[in-house]
Amino acid sequence: MSDSKKWAIVTGGSRGLGYETAKGLIAAGISVCIIGKDQERIEESAKTLGCSYRSVDVSDSKKFREVLTEITQDATSKGFEVLDVLVLAHGVMSDKMSKTLRTNDEEWRRTLSINLDAVFTAVNQLAPAMAEARKGRVVVYSACLGRMSGPGTHGGLAPYRISKAGVNAFVKNLSYETGLGARGFLVDAICPGHCRTDMGGEDAPRSAQEGAETAIWLATRDFDATKDKTGLLWEDRTVVDW
Ligand SMILES: NC(=O)c1ccc[n+]([C@@H]2O[C@H](COP(=O)([O-])OP(=O)(O)OC[C@H]3O[C@@H](n4cnc5c(N)ncnc54)[C@H](OP(=O)(O)O)[C@@H]3O)[C@@H](O)[C@H]2O)c1
Repeated sequence: MSDSKKWAIVTGGSRGLGYETAKGLIAAGISVCIIGKDQERIEESAKTLGCSYRSVDVSDSKKFREVLTEITQDATSKGFEVLDVLVLAHGVMSDKMSKTLRTNDEEWRRTLSINLDAVFTAVNQLAPAMAEARKGRVVVYSACLGRMSGPGTHGGLAPYRISKAGVNAFVKNLSYETGLGARGFLVDAICPGHCRTDMGGEDAPRSAQEGAETAIWLATRDFDATKDKTGLLWEDRTVVDW
């Protein structure tokens, strides 16, 4: 295995958009480790993709960190250097009736801990080495429901919308902390559009493959810090105001 071989971790890789993103990265020649919660499902998906895998509940920050450490140690033992790509595609939708005044602590915590806290855990665990090495890309699946403009935070699904607004803010804040791409480290959020996955439902207008395309592009694009941008929310390779 050559020293320059790239590798990636993709959460939510067992199905839907994470699975399609992992597939695209593998097709681009990147070695991938996928993470999911359900042991059988992640094992099956990894077998189909021909990649490595781990199962963990990402909302358990202690266990999630342990698993990320194990994955990194395993990659190092196989000759890989610092992680090149981290795609955070795990996520849950909040209950249909979760308006702010109707939801409860349990539903709020469930959604926020998976959709937002686990994004912090993964980035805080893995990205310091990437930033230090002056390389690496972090791509986080957000959603247009988290925008403060357009179709975003217009009521309902409060825990989900707020978690995704948090993701957008997280990405922007981190990009400023890491030099807006000038130091070789990129961090971006994407809205995949409404896609046919378990979360999006079978009547959604886009395929998971279409929804994953921009994440794959962000993870692999050529980047020129004098003209290209990072720290933003993207949809179909275009920056979206949020
Ligand atoms: N689909 C859409 O239309 C749409 C639109 C906008 C944004 N998004 C966002 O895109 C991302 C992917 O969505 P999707 O449609 O692909 O969802 P999905 O088909 O429901 O898949 C969700 C993924 O997240 C993993 N996951 C959920 N909870 C977890 C936990 N506690 N620990 C570890 N893994 C967990 C699941 O693992 P298991 O298989 O093990 O459960 C699965 O791999 C999400 O962040 C979502 O909010 C989706």
